[in-house]
Formats: sequence, C-alpha cells, structure tokens
Amino acid sequence: MKNVLIISSSPRKNGNSEILANSFKEGALYFKNNVELVNLRDLKINYCFGCNACSTLGECIQKDDVNELMKKLLKCDVLVLATPTYFYNMSGQLKVMIDRMTACYTKIKADIYIIVSGWDNDSGNLEKVVNSIRGFTKDCLKNCPEKEVIKVGGFVETGDISNTRFVEQAFEFGKNC
Ligand SMILES: Cc1cc2nc3c(=O)[nH]c(=O)nc-3n(C[C@H](O)[C@H](O)[C@H](O)COP(=O)(O)O)c2cc1C
Repeated sequence: MKNVLIISSSPRKNGNSEILANSFKEGALYFKNNVELVNLRDLKINYCFGCNACSTLGECIQKDDVNELMKKLLKCDVLVLATPTYFYNMSGQLKVMIDRMTACYTKIKADIYIIVSGWDNDSGNLEKVVNSIRGFTKDCLKNCPEKEVIKVGGFVETGDISNTRFVEQAFEFGKNC
C-alpha cells in the first residue's frame, strides 16, 4: 500500500485539472492505497519570505498551513501535481506552494506525476508548463523519478474535460501508480 498525495492547484472547483486529479485519486484507491487529495485553494499558504530561517530550523517560521503540508510531502510515496496553465506556466498557487517547500524538499522521496490542463492545444506550449514544474521535480528533487505526465489542451470552462479519454487515462495512471 502506498501513500499517494495529490495536490490540485486550480482555484476552480470542478476545474479540468481537478477532474483529472480526482480521477487519478479514484484510480489510486482501486488498489486500496492510502490516498489524499489536497486542494491548495482550501489552505492558507503565504509567499516565501526568502529568509532562509528554515535551513537552520528545519521548518518554516510562518504560521500557516505549510508545515502540515510539508509533513504530507515527506510521507508520500507518490506525488501528483495538478495545475491549470496560467500564462504559459503553472498556476501561481502551485508555484507559491513549491517555493514554500524549501525546508523539506531534499528529503522528499516519491514517484512524480504531473497533470496540466490549458485551452491551448499547442503541445510545445503545454510542455513549457511541464518543464516549469520539472524545475522543481526533476532538477531539485533527487529521489523522485517522473512516472507519467498528462498535458492536455482545448479545455476552457470547468467540466469541459469530463467524458474525455483523459479522465480515463488519469484513472489508469492512478490505478498503476
Ligand atoms: C489567468 C489565466 C491565464 C491563463 N493562461 C493560459 C495560457 O497561457 N495557456 C492556456 O492554454 N490556457 C490558459 N488559461 C486557460 C486555463 O489554463 C484552462 O482553462 C484550464 O483548463 C483551466 O484549468 P482548471 O479548469 O483546472 O482551472 C488561462 C486561464 C487563466 C484564468
């Protein structure tokens, strides 16, 4: 049984990336993994102060939801990062969360799954978003192999991605994670 942590960063309930994140969750539950989906919009996450206090304290001095979230990242075997495309990049919500992982990121050991949705169908543009996330997952996390990526364009309104093959694909990735 694996600890599966899914971080969904869309501010929109029932957003396209969130639908994929939820489908991954359902797939991961199929084999009775221990699965948690965290919606960043439900948490209080301030910007990183850049103070570096965490390098001596081992945790952040800010009193928001980040220290609890870091514990979850340190416990997970599978980490899924789901984001809408915002101006050719990940959402600000996800970026701010990543910045706040400074105290713990060297200790994360998890298989990585990346989920990106956008309206733009251009695969190269979607890849830019994936690569921005890889700046964290690939270049900074040392024991975290990337397993699968779902990058999908053509979806604008919430729910647009429902009933597409991508939902099934996310389920399968969750099931096989
Ligand atoms: C502020 C903002 C910026 C966006 N920028 C882009 C973009 O650069 N490229 C793109 O393909 N879609 C862009 N979109 C569209 C969303 O990425 C797209 O609708 C996505 O499916 C939303 O995911 P969600 O439903 O999970 O929130 C933008 C949307 C917003 C609100």
